[in-house]
Amino acid sequence: MTNSRISGFYNLTIEERRAKLAEAAHLTPEDLLPFTTGGLSAESADHMVENVIGMYSLPVGIGLNFMVNGRDVLVPFVIEEPSVVAGASFMAKLVRAGGGFTATTTEPLMIGQMQLINLVNVEEARLKIYEHKAELLAIADAIDPILKKFGGGARDLEVRVIEDSAIGAFLVIHLIYDVRDAMGANAVNTACEKLAPRIEAITGGKVHLKILSNLADRRIARVRCTIPVSELGFEAENHSQVSGETVRDGIIAAWAFADSDPYRAATHNKGIMNGVDSVVIATGNDWRAIEAGAHAYAARSGRYTSLSTWGKDKDGNLVGTLEMPMAVGIVGGATKVHPAAQAAVKLMNVKTASELAEIIVSVGLAQNMAALRALATEGIQRGHMSLHARQVAIAAGASGEMIEKVAAQMVTEKVVRIDRAEEILKELKESK
Ligand code: MEV
Repeated sequence: MTNSRISGFYNLTIEERRAKLAEAAHLTPEDLLPFTTGGLSAESADHMVENVIGMYSLPVGIGLNFMVNGRDVLVPFVIEEPSVVAGASFMAKLVRAGGGFTATTTEPLMIGQMQLINLVNVEEARLKIYEHKAELLAIADAIDPILKKFGGGARDLEVRVIEDSAIGAFLVIHLIYDVRDAMGANAVNTACEKLAPRIEAITGGKVHLKILSNLADRRIARVRCTIPVSELGFEAENHSQVSGETVRDGIIAAWAFADSDPYRAATHNKGIMNGVDSVVIATGNDWRAIEAGAHAYAARSGRYTSLSTWGKDKDGNLVGTLEMPMAVGIVGGATKVHPAAQAAVKLMNVKTASELAEIIVSVGLAQNMAALRALATEGIQRGHMSLHARQVAIAAGASGEMIEKVAAQMVTEKVVRIDRAEEILKELKESK
């Protein structure tokens, strides 16, 4: 069993962290090798996209302390932004004290859309499609024998009438497809393209677009956590004590802002996506699809709002929830081709796409809480400051031990700017 609590991880060297990680996750150093090399060869990359000229790297940091559905998990984050990994790990530690994250998923149902135009009578066509539903589902079901073998396949057909001022009435047919452990785009798009000629023959119309919907609202991941209010208090920079109740109520009031204001909700949800995307990218999944689904889902009531909720339970403990579409896979696509994505899946020891989705929403909720806690108490800049200062120091030309020196000086002065970094660097070099 993995142990996701590795004390002092932050203070180790990169080499030492790799060794600790392998030990804690019961993996060999070879299993983690793709994180050392970046994983992808130029040759594989050349098969992935067009006009390849090379590679582009991002840091992989490990999210600690995560316990999801009673199981410890070490989570790889691929992200360029400071504070995300540390913030989520810290919140996961607090959540652990309340029993960890409890997550569930729906069946992995994706929606394929077919736009049916040029109809003489949309209602007649709509009913004709329902009359042929069994036959159409059988055609769609047969496109992927492997998926079928693992229990996936076509599940349902739904037909909607859309009235459009530009082109008049048309039909939208939704094919509901169980894609099991795949992300599902290929299977669904293939099935829609296969169905089109038969639908045209049945209705006399023309199937125009045939493509999956990223508003994957049949494939939802949900997560809940409770943080004992006693865990939330802390000592502020000026040594005053901030009570757990103050932090809890601050987080709830911060959430209420996002709940009622789209301008704030966009930023609030961006914080959730800091966590979500980090794991989606680490596992070679399509983060644009996840982003599109998340924001469309956040606007499903007609008004864009928060994807998460924060409140308290009967004992006054802080309770957080997150619910969002989660179309991720562990088979096929980049997940299968990219050695680092494979290593990420192995590190988390996930065997199904649902398990991966449950970890991802847990990370999203942890990251949301980290942002709200910081914003509701000491402000976001304090936590950001030291890592940000290092980046600014590097940008100003610092290298080696100078990075820390320049960064530390800027943090002390509370001035983290490239011009100041350049000045400090110059002073330090001159005083040598
Ligand atoms: C920054 O990447 C994310 C935050 O803006 C999220 C939030 O405001 O909730 C800190």
